[in-house]
Amino acid sequence: MIRLRRLRENEVLRNMVRETQISKSDLVYPVFIKEGTNEKNPVDSMPGIYQYTLDRFDEELERIQAAGIPAILIFGIPEHKDECGSGAYDENGITQRAVREIKKKAPELLIIADVCLCEYTSHGHCGLVKDGKILNDETLPLLAKMAVTLAKAGADMIAPSDMMDGHIAYLRKALDENGCVDTLLMGYSAKFASGYYSPFRDAAHSAPAFGDRRTYQMDPANGREALRECEADIEEGADIIMVKPALAYLDIVKAVRGETKHPLAVYNVSGEYSMVKAAAINGWIDEKRIVMENMIAMKRAGADIIITYHALDVARWLQDEQ
Ligand code: PBG
Ligand code: ZN
Repeated sequence: MIRLRRLRENEVLRNMVRETQISKSDLVYPVFIKEGTNEKNPVDSMPGIYQYTLDRFDEELERIQAAGIPAILIFGIPEHKDECGSGAYDENGITQRAVREIKKKAPELLIIADVCLCEYTSHGHCGLVKDGKILNDETLPLLAKMAVTLAKAGADMIAPSDMMDGHIAYLRKALDENGCVDTLLMGYSAKFASGYYSPFRDAAHSAPAFGDRRTYQMDPANGREALRECEADIEEGADIIMVKPALAYLDIVKAVRGETKHPLAVYNVSGEYSMVKAAAINGWIDEKRIVMENMIAMKRAGADIIITYHALDVARWLQDEQ
């Protein structure tokens, strides 16, 4: 008889033959920084997640550092929005100020800045809009301005999530020409038009006012096209590529892993987080067990980096085990 159970007999053996590990160094924690003062607002659809004004962010920064999280992904929430998202590329915009201040307080923390217009535009789309159409090439210079101001403020990595064509090449050139040759670029390469983003849109006030994002984000039905998106980003100079969302798209993660040599990130998005949290709060699942199983699943599929709202919890659980 082939006795595979011999390998599972005790914990020493199970640990010895375990194929996949998750470690704190894999984690990126997304944070929401809101313009204004003295506010810490819970995001109702994401229990445990808050929007902080910059003056209130210290407590969260302390938790991040104490847990040993190596990197954060910053989303700014401006007070004012307009047609062309001018708050996004203002060198004193909320995200630029947040990057500057957090870098000063925690120089060793890797800062990744999300680059996109949707939090800053009155229409909530990720690019400029004309006659109901989301303009591609006209949006690129604005994204470039945003990327350069954030890099100059101290962001170590720029992560454009807008899904405009050609944006990686455009941003790389702009960063290089402005002396930011060491700033990394992580493409949201295969970003699907997903229902799993809706809690984030509450958190970041970035829901589109009309229509949807299907003319720029990918059709969830398309796996081969996801590989083309990744190829394009690599050709254009992305340092890291990403698949987003994560859990319903692990086939894509696995396929991308098989075809590219680049570091691969997955974004375990807001809706994925909210579903686990809601079930856990109701006592229907064991939160730690489910979250760790999801983390292992993403790594087993081939992810090197996991962007997740569970990062603080995961880092603490890993710490407890040591
Ligand atoms: C903005 C952006 C979104 C997310 C990251 N950057 C939302 C969207 O595209 O509508 C989603 C993150 C999440 O759901 O956790 N372009
Ligand atoms: Zn956007």
